[in-house]
Amino acid sequence: MRGLATIITFLFVGILTAFYIGFGLPDSSRIVAVDEELVGLNEKYTLKFSHVVAKNTPKGHAAAYFAELVKEKTDGWVEIQLFPNGVLYDAQEEFEALKKGDVHIIAPAFSEVTIHDRKWTALDLPYLFDNEIMVEQAFEGRIGELLLESFAKKGFMGIAFWDNGFKQLTNNVKPIIYPEDITGLSFRVMPSEALFKTYRILGARAVTYPFNDVYNVLRDGIVDGQENTLSNIYSKGFYQQQRYMTISNHNYLGYVVLVEPEFWSTLPERHQSSIQEAMDEVTMWLRKHAMELNNDMLQRISSTGITEIHEQSEEEKDQWRKVLKPLYDEYETIIGKELMDELKRLQIDKEL
Ligand code: LMR
Repeated sequence: MRGLATIITFLFVGILTAFYIGFGLPDSSRIVAVDEELVGLNEKYTLKFSHVVAKNTPKGHAAAYFAELVKEKTDGWVEIQLFPNGVLYDAQEEFEALKKGDVHIIAPAFSEVTIHDRKWTALDLPYLFDNEIMVEQAFEGRIGELLLESFAKKGFMGIAFWDNGFKQLTNNVKPIIYPEDITGLSFRVMPSEALFKTYRILGARAVTYPFNDVYNVLRDGIVDGQENTLSNIYSKGFYQQQRYMTISNHNYLGYVVLVEPEFWSTLPERHQSSIQEAMDEVTMWLRKHAMELNNDMLQRISSTGITEIHEQSEEEKDQWRKVLKPLYDEYETIIGKELMDELKRLQIDKEL
């Protein structure tokens, strides 16, 4: 009996072995999807998202929320890897890295874009926007369209405009109230020609340094001041090196979220729409929360007592506008008539 059982077991194992050797083990790598819709969906995508600011800023929060939403909407098939604080690249290096495919998403400030497309200088004109409603109208309307169309010609695809907030002036020398107060001082700005010219008209000097160097150049007294949003001023500790701040709201700091079109076209359509859907949700969320975040940072800076804060009045603003007006005429040819007319229309509409 025992001998018979051994023979049966032996035969059974033998048949099984022959079956597997003959036909091969089931191998998932050999499963080929024939359904067009499924092509690419059994592949996981990892997209690197580089930005230069801290996590506790509007862009930092938005990027983290976006990564979470993309994961949720693609059931984990697309992962967004975040690289904040300029750990990989500074703002200008990011454009090159995006072109080369070393990163897949970037969200540079408009002023950084001007280096690659001078039309974007439009958004650096001083006192262009009075409030967030005007900013939203610009992003959502023809102004936004014209800017994205123009940048598409340079090989960059914009998938959203992200908010941060209005820029404020800080310095370590004296309170800045009237335009003449700024004369003779030096400021770190982003690398935009319109920003350099703004300071030149005012008799001040503007120099550019990457964002990650700003704290050091302020600390070492290489420049007297800088301009930035409250969230950047707080999160990077600039206020610790600056005795005076003017709430001037003289420029808007916003971002354009960019992808490289060829890389984008390699993503399965279903992933593209999930990513765009996540992006749209985050953009709406940011529109509601960016201002709150900046206001919160103002409270924090103010409560330290390190920086004396002056809020520009409407009457003071008018004086600055008057001095800076020639910039608008100078830039009309650079940014083009259509865009300038749209900007002027936005200004006129606000009066109505
Ligand atoms: C800068 O001053 O360079 C920053 O405003 C950059 C950023 O992305 O906010």
